[in-house]
Amino acid sequence: MKISKIQAGVGILGLAMTAGLVMGHLPVTKQANAESGQTIRLPANFRTDYEFLGAWAVSGDADTGGKIGQHIVYASPGTVKAYRKTGKFPDGAVLVKELFNGKTEDLTTGSATSAAELAGYFVMVKDASGNKTGPLWGDGWGWAFFGADDTRQTTTKDYKAECLTCHEPVRDRDLIYSYAYPVLKP
Ligand code: HEC
Repeated sequence: MKISKIQAGVGILGLAMTAGLVMGHLPVTKQANAESGQTIRLPANFRTDYEFLGAWAVSGDADTGGKIGQHIVYASPGTVKAYRKTGKFPDGAVLVKELFNGKTEDLTTGSATSAAELAGYFVMVKDASGNKTGPLWGDGWGWAFFGADDTRQTTTKDYKAECLTCHEPVRDRDLIYSYAYPVLKP
């Protein structure tokens, strides 16, 4: 996972976005109704109120300063139940991938890595109807990255350039690496 590639393509901070909120703290069904605009926000409560989907360990490289990267993935309340029932992410579902540079140390289990410095957040919002427009919406989702230092304003300007190519390998899974999340399996 090469964050610097994304940040390099980003440049100065993004444009002011159109009004409206993604109300990530509401249950998925209500949330779809509550959401009227196209602005993608990082839900403030995702660590406490969201559902844990799974985690990745990414070998250390230049982007992580040689440290093992940890990606923790969450979904808005109700997503797991809906997905397990229908095999699809419900309209309005919010996925958050939180990125950390890991801290590796010798513990009683052996060499172990925990989440240390926060590196940023990726957010996706399901748009089943495909009604949303603009450079952050398309292919059934809204797409945005937030740096660790500014969780209010996304730096993403164009999901096609900054996100989509890397998610093409899982197009047949609605562009989500869903096979890695045990809780979604029947
Ligand atoms: C360099 C390739 C790359 C880029 C660029 C990229 N992604 Fe991803 N993304 C991945 C991979 C691979 C995974 C799963 C494995 C991992 O996290 O290492 C993933 C996982 C995710 C997840 C967790 C859900 C899932 O699909 O498993 C979200 C949410 C996400 N990405 C959003 C975004 C958004 C939004 C952007 C653009 C702002 C973006 N990604 C850009 C490669 C990329």
